[in-house]
Amino acid sequence: MSQQPPASNPPADKAAMVEAMFDRIARRYDLMNDVMTGGTHRLWKGATLRALGNRRHGNVLDVATGTGDLALTLAATSRTARVVGLDFSAQMLARANLRGHATAAAHGDRLLWARGDALRLPFADRSFSATTSAFALRNVADLGQMFRELARVLGPGGRVALLDLVPIPDPPLWTRLAQVHLREVVPRVGAAIVGDAAAYLYLPASVGSLPPLPTILDMLTEAGFADVRSRLFGLGTVALITGTRR
Ligand SMILES: C[S@@+](CC[C@H](N)C(=O)[O-])C[C@H]1O[C@@H](n2cnc3c(N)ncnc32)[C@H](O)[C@@H]1O
Repeated sequence: MSQQPPASNPPADKAAMVEAMFDRIARRYDLMNDVMTGGTHRLWKGATLRALGNRRHGNVLDVATGTGDLALTLAATSRTARVVGLDFSAQMLARANLRGHATAAAHGDRLLWARGDALRLPFADRSFSATTSAFALRNVADLGQMFRELARVLGPGGRVALLDLVPIPDPPLWTRLAQVHLREVVPRVGAAIVGDAAAYLYLPASVGSLPPLPTILDMLTEAGFADVRSRLFGLGTVALITGTRR
C-alpha cells in the first residue's frame, strides 16, 4: 500500500485532516461500515440507544453523527424524541440530510442536522437529556474537552452513551486476532470499496491514539459523570461506554 496515515498531528491539523478525510469518503462510508463489520455495527448502535433508557425520549444530541445512523434510528423509533445530529464534515451531513428526507414520515421535524465542532458544541448548558456518539472518540483532538462539552450540554441525570474502537489492556487472543483483521484486512478492503487506502489505514492507527479503556472511563468520571461503565463488542475491540450526568 503506497499511502500512509499521518503519524501524529497537533490538534488543529488533526481536526482539518479528519474533516477532509470524512468529506472524501462520505459517499461510500455506509457501505464500507456494513462490509467491514458484517452489518454488526447496527447491533452495537441499537445497544447504544437502549443504554439511554427513558432519556432517549427527550432532547437528544448525537455528536459526530456522520451519515446519521444513531440520530435517524432514534428519531424514527421514539415518538417524542427531538434529535440533533451534529458533525463538522459537510459531506457526511449531506448524506445524513438525504437519508433524513427519505425517512421524514417517521420523524417529521423532530430531527435536525447541525454543522459544528464536538469540542465547542453550539448549544446552551443543560440543553439535552441524552447525548450519544459512535466512532468519534478516536477522531477528536482533545478527548477530555469532548467529555466536558458533553457534560455541559446535559442536564443533571442526563445519559451519555459512547461507542468506539478502543485499546483494552492485555487483550485476549480473539481480540488480538480481530486487531490483526483491522490492521491488515480493513485497509485493503477500504482501498477496494472506497478507493481511499489512507482513510482505512488511519482507522487502526487512530485506535492507538486513544488511552486504554480504563483511563477513558476515568476521564469521563472526571468530566462530571457518575456510574461510568463499559461493555465490549466485536470480539473485545469495540466498547460501549455509558454514564449519568452528576
Ligand atoms: C467514523 S465517523 C462516525 C459517524 C457515525 N457516528 C457512525 O457511527 O457511523 C466519525 C465522524 O466524526 C466526525 N468528527 C470527527 N471529529 C469531529 C469534531 N471535532 N466535531 C464534529 N464532528 C467530528 C467526522 O466528520 C465523522 O463524520
